[in-house]
Amino acid sequence: MRVPFVDVRSQYAEVRETLDPWIQEILETGAYVLGKHNRALEEEVARRHGVKHGVAVNSGTDALRIMLDACGVGPGDEVITTAFTFVASVEVILQAGARPVFVDIEPQGFMIDPNQVEDAVTDRTKAILPVHLFGQLADVEALADIARRRGLMVLEDAAQAIDSSHHGVYAGNFGLAAGLSFYVTKNLGAAGDAGMILTNDDDVAEKARSMRVHGMGRERYYYDYVGYTSRMDEIQAAVLRAKLQRLRAWNERRGELAALYGTALEGVPVCPPKVLPGNNHTWHQYSIVTTRRDELQAFLKDRGVDSMIYYPVPLHLHSPYRHLANGPGSLPVTERISREILSLPIQPHLTDEQVLHAAAKVREFFGA
Ligand SMILES: Cc1ncc(COP(=O)(O)O)c(C=O)c1O
Repeated sequence: MRVPFVDVRSQYAEVRETLDPWIQEILETGAYVLGKHNRALEEEVARRHGVKHGVAVNSGTDALRIMLDACGVGPGDEVITTAFTFVASVEVILQAGARPVFVDIEPQGFMIDPNQVEDAVTDRTKAILPVHLFGQLADVEALADIARRRGLMVLEDAAQAIDSSHHGVYAGNFGLAAGLSFYVTKNLGAAGDAGMILTNDDDVAEKARSMRVHGMGRERYYYDYVGYTSRMDEIQAAVLRAKLQRLRAWNERRGELAALYGTALEGVPVCPPKVLPGNNHTWHQYSIVTTRRDELQAFLKDRGVDSMIYYPVPLHLHSPYRHLANGPGSLPVTERISREILSLPIQPHLTDEQVLHAAAKVREFFGA
């Protein structure tokens, strides 16, 4: 039995009745960029997250990059963040001319450890940038509290956390702004690249809207900011709107599969994923921790069970980012988790049998 990690064709099969006519209409009318689907998507995502503004852009990376600019992060500033993330979270800070300051992660949810943030604050610190990893939010209450006391912004990397909440409050509400990714494999994935900035701040929204079209103001070819070319294609917006109607059901299915893994892996010597207190987890990934990670991955591969390593080498150990930390040993929890973490398939179109099969192979590996 094959247990695949992603299955975008089954997603398309579920939405094609809605989507195909929309795409046909876009192609026939020629409204290719920033049209009615873009505006509707911005409204629909912002409403779901309970934020005032959604600004659709070209990718999750652009969402973070434009968010930093629109929030005024620039040369001389420090941004406290994590090295246990996808590279985009950190490259955008450097591109903005600011300095990423890494602190270690907590070992439960693998996200920025608020206990270490306070010590990292200097008079140059401008923002804390938590990354909401694998479908749940970082310790947003503690981070927002530090930010309030120390006069800092919280800027959320919510690329993996659409629809995730903490005590019913969604990403985009814990600081000045948040960035979402709609990359193909995300819980809500486009047919290519797309992203969105969420904010309750009118000024940040206005700047981000302008910056995604070269910093243009209301009048065409008059510029207020140095900007980017980062419009969302109308076809991507249509794909995302069609899939958004299914997102809640798909996330619920992910939750069912997580529960199934939980029961099927009882008694196996791996650390199962933990839901942090107050969080609603949307199970973008189901990540277990084991010291025998590489052996287990090879064993599963030979038996048709896909798995992925997010992330095999933390960012402070890659050459472009090495100058930002003190080498191996400087972020011990981050480094250990990078060696021991493994994500098992949890996409919503898996059957119970497929997930039970994957879990059975993990049990078999450990002789459980
Ligand atoms: C944590 C994190 N930040 C940022 C990004 C960047 O998003 P994108 O690939 O849409 O540019 C991603 C997604 O790949 C991500 O997982």
